[in-house]
Amino acid sequence: MIDELSLKKAVSAFETLLRGQTERAEKMKENAEPIDFSKIQKTVVGIIGGDGIGPLIVSSAEKVLRKLLFDEIARGSVELKNIEGLTIENRLNKGESVPEEVLCEIKKCHVLLKGPTTTPKGGTGAKELESANVTLRRELDLFSNVRPVCVPEKGIDWTFFRENTEGEYVLGSRGVEAGELCCDFKVTTVEGTKRIARAAYEFARKNGKKRVTVVTKANIMKKTDGMFARICREVGEDYPEIETEDRYVDIMAAEMISEKTQSHFEVILAPNLYGDILTDEAAQIQGGVGTAGSANTGAKYAMFEAIHGSAPRMIEEGLGDYANPESILEATKMLLCHIGRNEKAKKLADAMKKCGEDPKNKVTGDRNGITCIEYTEKLLKLL
Ligand code: IPM
Ligand code: MG
Repeated sequence: MIDELSLKKAVSAFETLLRGQTERAEKMKENAEPIDFSKIQKTVVGIIGGDGIGPLIVSSAEKVLRKLLFDEIARGSVELKNIEGLTIENRLNKGESVPEEVLCEIKKCHVLLKGPTTTPKGGTGAKELESANVTLRRELDLFSNVRPVCVPEKGIDWTFFRENTEGEYVLGSRGVEAGELCCDFKVTTVEGTKRIARAAYEFARKNGKKRVTVVTKANIMKKTDGMFARICREVGEDYPEIETEDRYVDIMAAEMISEKTQSHFEVILAPNLYGDILTDEAAQIQGGVGTAGSANTGAKYAMFEAIHGSAPRMIEEGLGDYANPESILEATKMLLCHIGRNEKAKKLADAMKKCGEDPKNKVTGDRNGITCIEYTEKLLKLL
């Protein structure tokens, strides 16, 4: 049973949340101009190690960047800036998911290359801390999460556009407890849906894609997912050459592993949580979560990262050295394209492809494969 006082508190907490979300939605309308990287004198790339296997895989990517951008770094047109303090120890110590001074350093960069950060699980009785990813995506308004997955021999060439600032995530750390029941909230806004849908369809148009698959569970989550599906279709009407289709997330998960249907999908547009889950599944089909990169972009900032977490289990089992840097290197490729260094991205892609052709160069995440450092050394020689 819920007592009157708990009920009143919960209702008042909900009111605060609604007001806050309305304000956020209003702010979305003030669109910033995207940066033209060919016009800025110095591009600042922030490098953040993160937790667990993060510092190791990020140092691999940093070495690659330093080699590829050697001349530009020497000339001063690119700066790689190491940002300290985004560690679980410092974050817990300060009680802030992204400590203020770290956020301040981050905001001085144009783009970020970020290692995975650990997020304490809720419901354990320990102090709750919001995921650093969620905080950064919100603070930097990185609404578009782009995750490409490609398996040519299976006809798979998927690009996921995951909404990155709303859904179950935006209030995930601000649920309400009312006596013996708990409520979390899922938030979808018109503006938030429009902007991710536009990003997906623009990508489809520029890359000659014929189909956008909108993934929801609108048969159950009628308000939020219902609106997401409707707005995506409306945006899609401005792109008559592109077909829009709908899938529920459960059947989508199934069709993604069926050989009969895998090659059907091209651009996949999904709200936050479904996008999170489906992209891990997709990465696994590609060869493991250690193989896929992720771009988080907004109008002003962009952050590039692996799609996986900090892998505490690998560390516990003493397998940290065997972490696969391919995911963060995929993200590095995306970063290079984002800042207009497409040739360098191509160089990296070619070197990774060449490196992967030799089965001895496989990083498997366990002692059957080579270590992260060994892989990096081989790759650097091919650059
Ligand atoms: C991802 C990760 C994050 C997420 C975690 C680390 C908060 O799984 O980027 O997919 O759920 O978004
Ligand atoms: Mg994920």
